[in-house]
Amino acid sequence: MSQHLQAAKNPDKNNSPLLLRACRNEVTERPPVWMMRQAGRYMAEYQALRSGRTFMELCKNIELATEVSLQPYQAFAMDGVIMFSDILTIPDAMGLGLSFTEGMGPRFETPIRHIDQVAKLPIPDPAVDIAYVPAILKNLRQALGSDTQTALIGFSGAPWTLAAYMIEGGSSKHFQLLKQWLFEQPEALETLLAKLTLSVIAYLNAQIEAGAQVLQLFDTWAGILSHAQYERFVLPYHQQIIENLIRRDEVPVILYVNGSRGLLDLMVKAKPDVISVDEKTALGEARKIVDPNIALQGNLDPLALYCAPEVLKPMTQRLIAEGGTQGYIFNLGHGILPKTPVEHVRLVVDTVKSSAVLPVS
Ligand code: CP3
Repeated sequence: MSQHLQAAKNPDKNNSPLLLRACRNEVTERPPVWMMRQAGRYMAEYQALRSGRTFMELCKNIELATEVSLQPYQAFAMDGVIMFSDILTIPDAMGLGLSFTEGMGPRFETPIRHIDQVAKLPIPDPAVDIAYVPAILKNLRQALGSDTQTALIGFSGAPWTLAAYMIEGGSSKHFQLLKQWLFEQPEALETLLAKLTLSVIAYLNAQIEAGAQVLQLFDTWAGILSHAQYERFVLPYHQQIIENLIRRDEVPVILYVNGSRGLLDLMVKAKPDVISVDEKTALGEARKIVDPNIALQGNLDPLALYCAPEVLKPMTQRLIAEGGTQGYIFNLGHGILPKTPVEHVRLVVDTVKSSAVLPVS
């Protein structure tokens, strides 16, 4: 793919982390690399800390969550450390009662089934109701200490995806209840989305205050919507979130939607710094739609990580070539899966880290 030598945003003079430079659309020596859900069950170190406690206990234990966040950094020297947590911390703090059961995923004790519940939902104060998250980030900032080359990543679920879990009460195949709300009582759904938007803004700003240098907004399930539905139920909330973040010049925002192929033009309208592309859309294809001043992240198929090294390595190399060296972050198209061979993760990271170095003029 040809290089898009566009003006970098806030060109960097002070040697900030590689990941941040790529987010700002700068030319980099090589692409930075991290993986969505990089801390998780595929690592024995994670399994050891997870055993004997629930997932939410692990998330809320500041010391252990800090340790888990650092495991992939220590094992593979990723260019980004993402805090260990989950996107469902906001609805949990709203009082829905979150638990995770083996093989079933998340489950809410009190899902949102009636519009009357929406008005009663509190907007969580992150410093009080989700205080463990800023505390983990502060710990991580300290742990990274003199390593000024690795970026600390914060994140939140976006309103649509959070509403999906809150209304369905957990994971869902067809999102029947959610779609029923969308068709039968769209205004009620918008009231919920607006409330979640205010919660996400406060949550992300607290993460910035606590030391997050990059933020990723996960709207995993927005890809189930048509273009027109996305325009009404997703885009305005992304815009509002991004417009209301503090230190917008310093802290870039990465926007992720799974199944975004027909929605990329609307993702651009939210003005994120980076669009994270899933494995179903080639980077070159995304580039034709995404403005050259927005960086791209992605999009190795998480299932490629199960393949033999002789297959995985050239796939990785082809993707590095396709991404190029301006405004490109190497990542997966979706989160890493359980039972992924650890050595394959290492192979991919090492391949990216030793990839062709281009002179930076
Ligand atoms: O990237 C990271 O390493 C940070 C941690 C992180 C987790 N979840 C840890 C986790 C992040 C960024 C997430 C985001 C998340 N959580 C998303 C959006 C991204 C995506 O993958 O689409 C979603 C939809 C969730 C909700 C969620 N959390 C589900 C559906 C599940 C169950 C599925 C499963 O794999 O079991 C989780 C649990 C979860 N979140 C685990 C981890 C490591 C596994 C929990 C365990 O130890 O059993």
